[in-house]
Amino acid sequence: MTSKGQYKTIVFVICSVAALGGLLFGLDQGFIANSLETLTEHYHLSVPQKESYSAVLATGGIVGALLSGVLARILGRKKSLLLAGFIFTAVSAYSALLPDLSILSACRFALGFAVGIASFVVPLYLSETAPAAIRGSMGTLFQLMITVGIFLISVSNVYIAHTVANSATALTLMFLTITLFAALMFLGGFILPESPRWLMLKGRREQAVAVLRRTVNTQAEIDQEIHEIEQALHGPQGAGIGIVLRGYFFKVLVVGVLLQMFQQLVGINVMIYYAPTIFGFASMKGIIAMMTVPTVNMLFTFPAISLVERWGRKKLLYVGALMMLISMVAAGLAFQAIGTHPDAAAIGHGPKTVLLLAVIVYIFGFAVSWGPVVWLVCSEIFPLEGREVGMTITTMVNWTFAGLLMANALTFMETFGNASIFYLFSGFCVLAIVFVALFVPETKGITLEQMEFNLRNGVPLRRLGQRPDPARG
Ligand code: BGC
Repeated sequence: MTSKGQYKTIVFVICSVAALGGLLFGLDQGFIANSLETLTEHYHLSVPQKESYSAVLATGGIVGALLSGVLARILGRKKSLLLAGFIFTAVSAYSALLPDLSILSACRFALGFAVGIASFVVPLYLSETAPAAIRGSMGTLFQLMITVGIFLISVSNVYIAHTVANSATALTLMFLTITLFAALMFLGGFILPESPRWLMLKGRREQAVAVLRRTVNTQAEIDQEIHEIEQALHGPQGAGIGIVLRGYFFKVLVVGVLLQMFQQLVGINVMIYYAPTIFGFASMKGIIAMMTVPTVNMLFTFPAISLVERWGRKKLLYVGALMMLISMVAAGLAFQAIGTHPDAAAIGHGPKTVLLLAVIVYIFGFAVSWGPVVWLVCSEIFPLEGREVGMTITTMVNWTFAGLLMANALTFMETFGNASIFYLFSGFCVLAIVFVALFVPETKGITLEQMEFNLRNGVPLRRLGQRPDPARG
């Protein structure tokens, strides 16, 4: 097998540019938390207005994800990415003019729409363009860029809010920062080649070969890839949404849906959005409260890039879920200790330290596993003809559960006590571990076509990632 070092630079360039879509995802995820105060000051937002301005992003994301499957099929992967980049750039730039609140909200919806497209098309594009041996690492780039985006926007928004006193100027600068990154992705998108798998799907074999010539080294590798794509294309074609009714597809769809559901139910976005609030409940404020989560989240996504190929996907999912399980129980216990002290000054160092360590371990656990691996596996498990349908549905599930948690987490803590939500998340970690053990295939190192062959031949889910037995072909 070709070693990583032998892959052409173009592969890394195209993957990096495509992963800029992940950066936009992250910039948007991280934007609200640190700009809401400035927005409130400038637009005099009431609480319901704040909520609806925040929530409209998720709505846009769901619609974007819904349409992105159709867009990716009709326009192709590259043009869909360009479209997302264009919407992102234009809408962020327009937001910087600080229009009326209703228009600004419409812009936020459009940003969510673009993120929805990017969150679907980027993993799809990466999985289809990167050679099998480095597919995992390249796919993980998407998650890395999400975390870089969250980190960058946290730093820049906190900095802008602290140095620029005038709220209008501060907001304009915040939106211009996003515009700059969006423009980078949009322009970078023009150098991307189209996905060879999509070209083959459209019967444009010559162009597919031309792309492969740029990304792999030898004629033998080109022939091998073309052969495998062709074999995959010989299955039943033209599947629309009806494909979900086919047994073999339905099985992997359930795996993808549950993976995305658990990725959110372990509580990650409650941390990403509300960590400063949660630390505030324990009377912890300042830079540690604001920056711990984005920093740890970004730093520990780096090891995931190589671990995902060395350890494989499943081992990472187990290790990550276990770390999150233990740390959430610890956070719950810390809050129970804190809860017995009505007076903030009476909260000792012990529970605060435990809480901080628990959050660090939790974010570490997520960043190195469920963050990257879920998006990656969802881009790998679906057969080509139904990959858009499968990824559309699983991406929508991600946005839906993210939205549900964001909309209810603080009320839940208020109603059932601060510790309760952490115990709830640890319960979901247990369920996630059981689910991985029973149903999730190891997808490391196998080609997408080999996996599809297994799927159609009734290989059980857990063994889907094992190399096909030549005797059955
Ligand atoms: C999740 C996002 C989350 C991000 C945090 C992604 O994998 O899908 O919802 O905000 O990770 O890094």
